[in-house]
Amino acid sequence: MITFTLNGQKATFDGDPDTPLLWVIRDTAKLTGTKYGCGIAQCGACTVHVDGTTRRSCITPISTLDGSSVTTIEGVDGPEAQAVQTAWRAIDVPQCGYCQSGQIMSAISLLQYTPKPSDDDIDGAMAGNICRCATYQRIRQAIHDAAKTLEG
Ligand code: FES
Ligand code: FES
Repeated sequence: MITFTLNGQKATFDGDPDTPLLWVIRDTAKLTGTKYGCGIAQCGACTVHVDGTTRRSCITPISTLDGSSVTTIEGVDGPEAQAVQTAWRAIDVPQCGYCQSGQIMSAISLLQYTPKPSDDDIDGAMAGNICRCATYQRIRQAIHDAAKTLEG
């Protein structure tokens, strides 16, 4: 039995310990905001936070998460999350939207660790999040705007 925290609530899983976190989130917990893109850590669609840092849930076996705290797009909160979500809406970043929960989770983590990111910081932190609609310019602008909001 694996016991962990999911969006602030105690969660357990007693299936195959090799099950990727992504499927525990989507199929067991029924939280479908976290997306499946590639399954091999190449696209970032499945990005969540584990103990405060980004993690590709598609390649993270649930067995490695006993005692961990997992946050998904449905549960992410705090000033960085609010600033990012506000900026995303203001700039109307998404196109098809499929990659966007992963983009947002990576952007929040970037701002938590690097409050005033340069373009290079943004490009580096977001490089693992692919957008097939090529919304990269709007993502970069939204992160800058969120950083300004956080400066207050
Ligand atoms: S689905 Fe996990 S990185 Fe693509
Ligand atoms: S908005 Fe369509 S893949 Fe990114």
